[in-house]
Amino acid sequence: MTELTRLSVRRDGPVAYVTLNRPAVRNAFDERLIAELTAWANAAPLDPTLRVLVLDGAGPVFSAGADLDWMARMAGASRADNLRDATAAAQLFSTLDRLPLPLVARIHGAALGGGCGLAAVCDIVVASDDAVFGFTEVKLGIIPATIAPYVLAKIGRSAARELFLTGERFPAERARALGLVHTVVPAAELDAAVAHYVQALLGAAPGAIAAAKLLITQAWTGGDTPGIVAVTAEAIADRRASDEGRAGLAAFLGHRQAPWVPR
Ligand code: COA
Repeated sequence: MTELTRLSVRRDGPVAYVTLNRPAVRNAFDERLIAELTAWANAAPLDPTLRVLVLDGAGPVFSAGADLDWMARMAGASRADNLRDATAAAQLFSTLDRLPLPLVARIHGAALGGGCGLAAVCDIVVASDDAVFGFTEVKLGIIPATIAPYVLAKIGRSAARELFLTGERFPAERARALGLVHTVVPAAELDAAVAHYVQALLGAAPGAIAAAKLLITQAWTGGDTPGIVAVTAEAIADRRASDEGRAGLAAFLGHRQAPWVPR
């Protein structure tokens, strides 16, 4: 990836802030934004000094979802091109969902369609109390397809039936009640709420965070999933024997700070 035209990225020590940067179209995503964000997400885990990622949007809203000009253009493309393009979008959500690093979303203004999909693949979502959410796709004759697995994992089938089928917009407080958002604050307190989570994440062991994220993906289908006893038993057996596990337990028992806590 050469020059970034759809994102801006800022680094503050172990924290990277990536901003969707197409405010003129409310950070709607087209093929270029998808490619840039996917490349960034693939590169982030390769940097061993990175601990926390924060995603936000420039201008008045977080994201208006898929770029409707791009959608209309792809509708006229060949089936193969249309499918290749849709696969890139699906791959973006999968890549973000599987990131071994913690991903925090800072949502203001609106998160619609794929904007809600971005919220769904973030680990922690902080929203301003005036932000609007919605799976508006059906109102446009399309469906929330590539985001569905991640949204369903967060809000469940019942809410999806209501919200995917009506396309109605809903307030941040409802998004929080559904599990799509974790904390709702006045707009002026958004940065402080994000900073609070960033500090909490920096106090957690990076390898343990990655292992916990993997375990959530493996275990979420329910306690009676075949093989789940083995998966969860292996997860803790490996963790307590890991360097981090040993160091963290020893630090606690020795009344010291764990080695990953910033001095
Ligand atoms: N794709 C492409 N362009 C979009 C867009 C999208 N998803 N959402 C907004 N834009 C464009 C508008 O067409 C407008 O362009 P213009 O200045 O050339 O007329 C510009 O962004 C600003 O939009 P506007 O509606 O005036 O901004 P707003 O701040 O009043 O409202 C939203 C912001 C996001 C609430 C509103 O734009 C909206 O509801 N967009 C549709 C979102 C949607 O349904 N997304 C689902 C996609 S599957």
